[in-house]
Amino acid sequence: MEVVLLPTPTDCGRVVADALQAGLARARVRGAPAVLGLATGSSPLLAYRELVRRHAEEGLSFADVEAFLLDEYVGLPAGHPESYREVIRRELTDAVGIDPARVHGPDGAAPDPLAAALAYEERLQAAGPVVVQLLGIGTNGHVGFNEPGSSLSSRTRVKTLTEQTRADNARFFADDVDAVPRHVLTQGLGTILRAEHLVLVATGEQKAAPVAAALEGPLTASVPGSVLQLHPHVTVVVDEAAGSRLALADHHRHALTHKPADQGW
Ligand code: GLP
Repeated sequence: MEVVLLPTPTDCGRVVADALQAGLARARVRGAPAVLGLATGSSPLLAYRELVRRHAEEGLSFADVEAFLLDEYVGLPAGHPESYREVIRRELTDAVGIDPARVHGPDGAAPDPLAAALAYEERLQAAGPVVVQLLGIGTNGHVGFNEPGSSLSSRTRVKTLTEQTRADNARFFADDVDAVPRHVLTQGLGTILRAEHLVLVATGEQKAAPVAAALEGPLTASVPGSVLQLHPHVTVVVDEAAGSRLALADHHRHALTHKPADQGW
């Protein structure tokens, strides 16, 4: 696991964009499908802004990209501005020219969410491997919408949100916690582990405790982010605030200073 501690959220966005771009380049060299795993929430937004800039100013192409979302609310009607399908369209995929038909997410508006979860898992496995899966982390350690207690080998399924997550996400629903859906569809932790490269980004003091628990605590379903410890290729990108409780912070800074020039992401 590589932990990249950087001064500002903008620096984090740049490195995450580098990692996504490197993943696309790797897939293209292999002639493999350019499958990206995208996350929503506020954490990836600066990376998306940087990718949009590179697309506009440097010609970075996403024409062959197939994008798969991590998760989705259950019960929001298609086209709801806070459905993750809409969020990703608004924040990234339209601006970088990914055909909407190539942007996939669990269908939270389906009459049978359980069947929608199974269908999504199958579709993802058929399209994969995901070359880079972007992740954020919740204040309670969740990744995707895998709340504490999630099986470490779970697949896409329906989950019930904790009240803490609903409260955290109320800011996207005009601060009305009652407007935040109770149920969600999320890739499982086992689904996420199948991606080739996991890139977790976290910024701000409120992420310091979950980042430390996920990276340096025990591997446990009580901290779903700790599942990263099982994966062979993980990059965690944090600003100084989010990395402030890492016991190994000094070593991570040292390792970054001495990162082998040809190591890449
Ligand atoms: C949300 C999303 C996650 C996200 C996390 C952190 O509820 N389902 O995918 O990583 O919680 O959100 P944020 O980046 O806004 O802090």
